[in-house]
Amino acid sequence: MGNVVSDFLTGLPGLVVASNITPDPETGIGSGTDGEKIRAIREGVDKNGNALFPMMPYTGYRFMSDADVEAVVAYLNTLPPVRHRLPKTSLEFPVNLLVKFAPQPTGRVPSPAIADPLRYGKYLVTLARCGECHTPKDKNHRPLPGMDFAGGEVLATKAGTVLTANITPRTWIPELGTGRRNSSKRRPMNIRNTRSMGRRCWPGRKPSP
Ligand code: HEC
Repeated sequence: MGNVVSDFLTGLPGLVVASNITPDPETGIGSGTDGEKIRAIREGVDKNGNALFPMMPYTGYRFMSDADVEAVVAYLNTLPPVRHRLPKTSLEFPVNLLVKFAPQPTGRVPSPAIADPLRYGKYLVTLARCGECHTPKDKNHRPLPGMDFAGGEVLATKAGTVLTANITPRTWIPELGTGRRNSSKRRPMNIRNTRSMGRRCWPGRKPSP
């Protein structure tokens, strides 16, 4: 079926199915209003008022600006509707109860200052939830203090185990980050450095310490 996430990721609390988000009115989200779609994306509540399993990254998307989420929905509305009926996510106890506490109201979210690259970068890193994978957590899934983006989260998949990389400046672009974390002192990034990093990332490289 492809989008039954629990078929390929281990450790999920039950059957987790990524929804059909095409505009098909019966099997997709076509019968919902734009406001309901925005609420699902940013707050994690579907049009029937049910909390979504937070694998759908709404806890990060809640920082998506009004203009950006409206653009996302405008785009989704143009997708060709695909009739594709799926089983419903069904979570095991106690996650089926705990999940009800995950959604949070968003309110209005102003657009980030695109002209300020550091702020805008932070906005993008938040939305893309880089820290969700790259920041190691304690056993209660709380980020370890002082370890933001330091890698080491273990992602268990049925195809094997993956360890997330340390993406703090000391290791990830040695020619740019000399261990100083103060990005304002860094040399400007350029395409050549980006390419050389691409080679470094190729299989065979040593794992980050
Ligand atoms: C779903 C989990 C996940 C998310 C989200 C994620 N990453 Fe990663 N990232 C990984 C994993 C796993 C690796 C290591 C892959 C490997 O070892 O082959 C990685 C590797 C990297 C690398 C290469 C590091 C190296 O050692 O060369 C960089 C850079 C990186 N991620 C940056 C980011 C940024 C920036 C974001 C957000 C925009 C992000 N990642 C979001 C899981 C994630």
